[in-house]
Amino acid sequence: MSASDSYSLLRTDIAGIDVRELADLAGTPVYVYDAAVMQARLAKLAAFDVVRYAQKACANLAVIDLLRRGGVLVDAVSAGEIGRALAAGYQAQGDPPPIVYTADIFDAESLDLVVQHGLHVNCGSADMIGQLAERVDGAHVTLRINPGFGHGHSQKTNTGGPQSKHGIWHEQLDDVLQAADRHGVIVSGLHMHIGSGTDMEHLSQVASAMESAARLVGRTITTISAGGGLPTPYQAGDPEVDIDRYYELWNATRTRLGEEFGHPVRLEIEPGRYLTAEAGYLVTEIRAIKRMGENAFYLVDAGFNDLARPILYGAYHPMSIVPRDGATDRSTHEVVVGGPLCESGDIFTQEEGGFVSSRALPIASVGEYLVIECAGAYGAVMGSNYNSKPLAAEVLIEQGAPHVVRRRQTVEDLLRNESVPARD
Ligand code: LLP
Repeated sequence: MSASDSYSLLRTDIAGIDVRELADLAGTPVYVYDAAVMQARLAKLAAFDVVRYAQKACANLAVIDLLRRGGVLVDAVSAGEIGRALAAGYQAQGDPPPIVYTADIFDAESLDLVVQHGLHVNCGSADMIGQLAERVDGAHVTLRINPGFGHGHSQKTNTGGPQSKHGIWHEQLDDVLQAADRHGVIVSGLHMHIGSGTDMEHLSQVASAMESAARLVGRTITTISAGGGLPTPYQAGDPEVDIDRYYELWNATRTRLGEEFGHPVRLEIEPGRYLTAEAGYLVTEIRAIKRMGENAFYLVDAGFNDLARPILYGAYHPMSIVPRDGATDRSTHEVVVGGPLCESGDIFTQEEGGFVSSRALPIASVGEYLVIECAGAYGAVMGSNYNSKPLAAEVLIEQGAPHVVRRRQTVEDLLRNESVPARD
């Protein structure tokens, strides 16, 4: 049985709190996160030496803080994410490094922050090594390697192979090691992340690619990172990932390497989606119901400015209706779910390529809430202000209490940094 067998088409609460209460608290659309789900996911990863959260999945300070309190370290891919990690209470330095900057480039701001705070860097290009060496003597870095293959839930989330811009090409590792030597930079670890939302079959191939690459680097290696990419069961019947098996595979790899090098090798994992996807819900209100020829539409007050995954990847999210009358059973019909934006692609029930599809959902009326589920990863963080829509509020439910952890933007927020040139 997979977790997704339990997705239901009617729901009255999230983590024990009435959805209507949550909507009243912060207005709709609103992202709601259930802390207990994140904690439960985290507990499943306990065997790994380090769980390093890829905060790009859900970067609200309260979420980072929650995971930090659970013992998680953090990854940062931009100056902004470094700022968030520091604001959430992470120390800049330590062993293992609490914050790792992983990217394929330094922009001026991120390099300044790395130097200022002495942050550990996971280099995705050879150029980063030289640029860091100009500012820091004797830096220890990890290298992100592109093992020559990749896989993701969509071609857009595949980060390996020759079409990917990510990482250092595996066949160039030796050259890059020589360059690191010339710059006095020590390579203390390797990292591979082949894509997001991949599957066990592909993930399992990474461990042996890592083993060969680590042998090439040799004894300076003290850490290997398996990256992120663990899949989420978005649809009924999708398999739940077998973490124990995955850990065994990587543990065997690092044990062999440790024996060869004569010192322990730390094993990191870098999940984003796995920790937050199933914890998040986007609560929307149905504002109009209409029919276009054969098709029935629910138009809700959230659009792809709030949740971009369907328009970007044709991503599937479970949906449920909050029955105003408390009904526990309602007949369903096929319906297309769309948002308020002035763009025809603003449809939550679509397939990759933009083909509109429909979903069997309970018959509902205007004013009822529709909840888009499994939306905690790559949801709020990919929100935009398109159509001058304010970013949605975010609520975290922890120990039975809902907390507004980001208030909804106001129109004043949107206009704050804009100005009209003075004219005489
Ligand atoms: N590490 C690195 C270096 C990454 O680039 C990523 C994701 C992760 C870890 C975390 O991957 P995860 O465990 O979440 O699969 N917007 C897309 C996903 C983009 C992922 C980008 N990198 C989506 O909505 O599916």
